[in-house]
Amino acid sequence: MAKQLTIAISGSTGFVGKNLRQFLADQNISVISLSRKKHKHFKSEKNIVFSDLDDIPKIKCDALIHLIGIGAQTKDANYELVNVRQTQKIVDLCKRSHIHKIVYISGLGVSDSTTFGYFISKLKAEQLIIKSGLDYTILRASYIVGTDDPLTKNLSKQIKQGTIQIPGSGLYRLQPIAIRDVCKIIFNCVTNKKLSRQIVDLVGPRTISFESYVKKFIRGKKAKIKKIPLEEAYFAALNNPKKIPYGIDDLNIMIGDFTSSHKKLEKLSGIKLEFPVL
Ligand SMILES: NC(=O)c1ccc[n+]([C@@H]2O[C@H](COP(=O)([O-])OP(=O)(O)OC[C@H]3O[C@@H](n4cnc5c(N)ncnc54)[C@H](OP(=O)(O)O)[C@@H]3O)[C@@H](O)[C@H]2O)c1
Repeated sequence: MAKQLTIAISGSTGFVGKNLRQFLADQNISVISLSRKKHKHFKSEKNIVFSDLDDIPKIKCDALIHLIGIGAQTKDANYELVNVRQTQKIVDLCKRSHIHKIVYISGLGVSDSTTFGYFISKLKAEQLIIKSGLDYTILRASYIVGTDDPLTKNLSKQIKQGTIQIPGSGLYRLQPIAIRDVCKIIFNCVTNKKLSRQIVDLVGPRTISFESYVKKFIRGKKAKIKKIPLEEAYFAALNNPKKIPYGIDDLNIMIGDFTSSHKKLEKLSGIKLEFPVL
């Protein structure tokens, strides 16, 4: 009989964390979720609450899925503190607990020549994981789409207000990947040796311009589209963030036009990827 797996998840309260916990519960996989606040948990799940990851005692599991991260900074939570320092703490936890495998979600477009803060923090986190000596899979994600992801929530909120704003031309592209596929892939990273010590782009099977994506999203709903000049969008994001539904780094990622091929991911995982349902 195959060994019963136990998987730990940090960032278990977030969008990917919640969906992954549901997915693993459906497969009867034991989960240890690590969160800052206590949350409801499945039968097959144990929730450990921490205020500092360094205080978590040894945990017994086969892999840790590290989902702690932020995509916008505030004076209290900056990229170095969250994306980099918490990753070091997770690596330390894996080492003291003898957890041999870590799966990390980085960002599509992160590379050695990365120039902006969010990507630099993701690159530093990747490097900490690679240098740790642990087995790893690093997934560089485009937009992960479900019913409760940040992009869907953002566009739905704009629809309620009657207008979706498109910064600039809207011709820059994204490569959305369905959360269901992401959950399957993350699980696959734990069990499939082909994904061992790999950095793979976590992208869907089709690229689509932001404008086309918005049009698809809006179909059957009542809302207008308004294009706003890029200069105006950045000015608002810098000076009056409440006036615009996109933060500075949202704009950087959108305008960055980061796309890739999904072939490597499909080949290594053996999973046929589907365009998310909008
Ligand atoms: N969703 C996407 O499309 C996408 C795309 C590219 C990369 N990613 C990456 O994938 C990972 C998961 O994304 P997500 O969409 O699930 O993010 P999310 O919904 O924003 O969840 C982030 C998680 O990180 C935790 N967290 C934030 N700051 C923390 C801190 N200082 N200490 C401890 N925990 C902290 C949050 O816990 P609290 O509930 O306690 O705040 C939450 O559980 C992130 O690293 C993100 O950068 C996501």
